[in-house]
Amino acid sequence: MASHKLARRAAIVGAGMSRFGAFADMTTRDLFVEAFCEMHHSVDKGLDPEDIEALYIGNYSSDLFEGQGHTAPIMADWVGLVPRPATRVEGACASGGVALREGLIAIASGLYDIVLVGGIEKMTNLPTERVTDSLATAGDVLYEIPAGFTFPGFYAAMATAYMDRYGATPETFMQVGLKNHDNGSLNEKAQFGATIGQIMERKIASAQRKGRPVPSWSDEKAFLHDERANPVIAWPMRLFDCSPISDGAAAVLLVAEELARSFSDDPLYIIGSGQGSAPALHDRPDVTTIGSARVAAQQAYQMAGVSAQDIKLAEVHDCFTIAEIIATEDLGFFPAGEGYRAAEEGRTARTAPRPINTSGGLKSKGHPVGASGVGQVVEIWEQMRGSAGARQVGGDLDLGLTHNVGATGQTCVVHIYERR
Ligand code: COA
Repeated sequence: MASHKLARRAAIVGAGMSRFGAFADMTTRDLFVEAFCEMHHSVDKGLDPEDIEALYIGNYSSDLFEGQGHTAPIMADWVGLVPRPATRVEGACASGGVALREGLIAIASGLYDIVLVGGIEKMTNLPTERVTDSLATAGDVLYEIPAGFTFPGFYAAMATAYMDRYGATPETFMQVGLKNHDNGSLNEKAQFGATIGQIMERKIASAQRKGRPVPSWSDEKAFLHDERANPVIAWPMRLFDCSPISDGAAAVLLVAEELARSFSDDPLYIIGSGQGSAPALHDRPDVTTIGSARVAAQQAYQMAGVSAQDIKLAEVHDCFTIAEIIATEDLGFFPAGEGYRAAEEGRTARTAPRPINTSGGLKSKGHPVGASGVGQVVEIWEQMRGSAGARQVGGDLDLGLTHNVGATGQTCVVHIYERR
């Protein structure tokens, strides 16, 4: 594939997000306003919102989740930005990442200098069964869904193929969940801001309070092996291998490279961008890797002029624990078949040389699907600028990466960020 360059680069100079979680008393509009306000306040040298020229809003399916289509202009209205052009971008769970790329392309083209990239989703209005059906429309409704596949089922199929080929076990996947909950316990915006050990302790305390039989888990692993505490959703994916059903919004301000310093002395430059597509899962020769992710990563590395080994931290799309392991291989951090060993040995932990999902990832931070890709950027922004608080990673974080997958990888977007 030909290598491509941006005609003009762009930088992120502001970033914000709402809390991720289940918010019965909030609408998508409220969540987006919250993200926008935080983004606004984060711009070091100030922002006059009147200067924003266009909006690109990642959203998978407000139609199915909320019965509200055509959401981008509504978001523009609620943050006072009409009559600016507001475009909704859909790429399943990669909607946010694709929106970022569209904003980047708009700036590179010269059409705009200052754009707002957002991501939104409110999933919890529906019961789980209907959320599952709505998400399933991102699969292939001719060939896959009539065969009984759901998203946990798709990733379970990938997990069993991976286990069969490389020798990973269900315990390997638990390790990813433990690590991401550890990270999420340090993130006040996370849906599950607790370690699995803390969740276990809460359940013990609740049983004691209610005078019910008190579970006798010896540790987190025993908890995760208990079918009642951690039921199988689609074997080998159990509850604590799945990202949750979530509400949330995120927003970043993207400006042309030459304007960046007028907004901040510490901008985050986007130096690489890649996007790929892939056939639906049933039509792939190998389900232990995601071809679109490999293509997107290659494009992004080439554009940035860096290699996988140069990346200091990454937020990757761990919609299920197996997905994080495959991502670390597709991105070139580990060779095929070694990602699971790396997870088992703690080589992706927050204290490792290249931490993965310091935010808690989708598993612990939450996965409001259209918002997740932009939420990943917010974490990279905070970490690389040294404002991630208790979960701040040490060292010189000069290069970061985000990897955002739509469905089982029919879409994948990768971005690389530089702090100069
Ligand atoms: N991880 C850990 N705990 C979870 C959880 C998750 N993913 N989802 C829910 N829980 C907890 C809840 O907090 C609740 O705990 P409590 O009893 O202590 O209050 C309990 O499990 C039951 O919650 P509930 O909402 O009734 O769960 P559910 O069985 O309806 O849904 C899943 C669980 C896994 C089916 C659902 O989260 C899911 O479908 N996740 C995948 C979403 C998805 O496919 N996204 C797209 C990816 S491509």
